[in-house]
Amino acid sequence: MENIMYDFGMIGLGVMGSNFLLNMADKGFKVIGFDLDAAKAAKLEKEATTGTTVRGVNTLEEMVKQLDKPRRIMMLVPAGKPVDAVIENLLPFIEKDDVVIDGGNSHYIDTLKRVKYLEEKGIHFMGMGVSGGEEGARKGPSIMPGGDMAAWKRVQPMLEAVSAKVDNEPCVAYMGKDAAGHYVKMVHNGIEYAIMQLISEAYDVMKRGLGLNNKELADVFTKWNEDELQSFLIEITSEIFLKKDDETGKEIVDIISDKAGSKGTGKWTSQDAMELPVSIPTIDTAVAMRTISGYKDQRVAASALYQSKIKELKGKTPADIKKIQDALHFAIVIAYAQGLSMLHEASSALNMDISLADVVKIWRGGCIIRSSLLEVFYKAYRKDKSLANILLTKSVARIVKKAEKNARTVIRLAMQSKIPVTGLSSAVGYFDAYCSASMPTNLIQAQRDFFGAHTYQRIDKEGTFHTEWNEEVVQTEKPHAETENPQIPERE
Ligand code: 6PG
Repeated sequence: MENIMYDFGMIGLGVMGSNFLLNMADKGFKVIGFDLDAAKAAKLEKEATTGTTVRGVNTLEEMVKQLDKPRRIMMLVPAGKPVDAVIENLLPFIEKDDVVIDGGNSHYIDTLKRVKYLEEKGIHFMGMGVSGGEEGARKGPSIMPGGDMAAWKRVQPMLEAVSAKVDNEPCVAYMGKDAAGHYVKMVHNGIEYAIMQLISEAYDVMKRGLGLNNKELADVFTKWNEDELQSFLIEITSEIFLKKDDETGKEIVDIISDKAGSKGTGKWTSQDAMELPVSIPTIDTAVAMRTISGYKDQRVAASALYQSKIKELKGKTPADIKKIQDALHFAIVIAYAQGLSMLHEASSALNMDISLADVVKIWRGGCIIRSSLLEVFYKAYRKDKSLANILLTKSVARIVKKAEKNARTVIRLAMQSKIPVTGLSSAVGYFDAYCSASMPTNLIQAQRDFFGAHTYQRIDKEGTFHTEWNEEVVQTEKPHAETENPQIPERE
């Protein structure tokens, strides 16, 4: 093995890194991986498919020396400082024209800095989202590269080979300029948070509201996965309900603590949405609900203080379950709509040139939010590349209109029964606001002008106005520049 020169190197042989590399070896590439942990490097070689060329080493220098030039190196290490540390350790060994890829969940602002830093040194750096978890990495993930075009061209055939495929098309495409790859992955995760929250609310309505047991829940989700809700997250949910705990023999879902963790990508999506600004309340709510889930002691105390008891809902008939299915379907469409509208906005605001058609195309397979809905969105974006929001297309409108009534019914019943459905209701609230030709925000403008002389625009004539609220209305001498966004303070 000593004299072999390798096609691709991986830094970090955790589950994701080693699975990605083994996948690449299965597609005929010669691969080498580095990890300080000797056991991980040895495990990589042991797990390689017979006949493939896979090597695991324990020093960075050893790995870099055995890579064909210009080199192709990817890192899959935790986001933040570890990525900078790897770059610094790597720099003495790499040279101009080498390609370095960060395949972790890095924050896009960090990626932007790294692109510039390495560009000065002649290194092609690419931020790349990889979705699909352990199994996806091994069998075919969805891959979201962005930034350096030369880097993309050099790794394109390899990434196309390892990615998931839908209709023989690879689930990888160049996402756009600068940090577009990590930006798209961040929003993917925001949508992931929202869908998971919505599914957990549907579960709550059926479990605490209707009294379904885990077997019945598994059956419901299995059926839903065969229908219009077909998706990876619905599929794994059906399997979760049937899984028994090895230790106790109990159904494991019932002994898992209700405190939800997070690594931050959902929060970043919400933070960046506020920055843009773009409205993604269902994603915000999903982040907030994970936070509330962490207040276990307070929740226990409050539940005793307020004696909050769930009022059971009536009926477990297929018609009742269908209503919940519709509510979930409705809200999931809205969650995608919010995330995709954010990408639309960010693409131009941050000058990334993201093609939404390519985004939904590569999300159709391999990633955590893959679902049959993506096919509908793909068609819509192919027809209209500049679509601001998928809710504005007829095919999506048909789905939403069909499910809308049941979404409202389920939310009403859940609220009466004290089951929190903040995700579902935020989706309906967003939809209602989005479909309101006029909103009550004229009153907010009046209040702002009343207490802060922030001015307002009128519907009957051009210009910017201020009212002396106890006297008559006067037009300011020079009309202020038109501002579309009422959130921007005109005067402090
Ligand atoms: C994916 C996942 C993956 C990871 C999330 C989990 O697309 O494969 O999104 O990246 O599971 O980071 O995030 P939380 O720990 O924040 O839920």
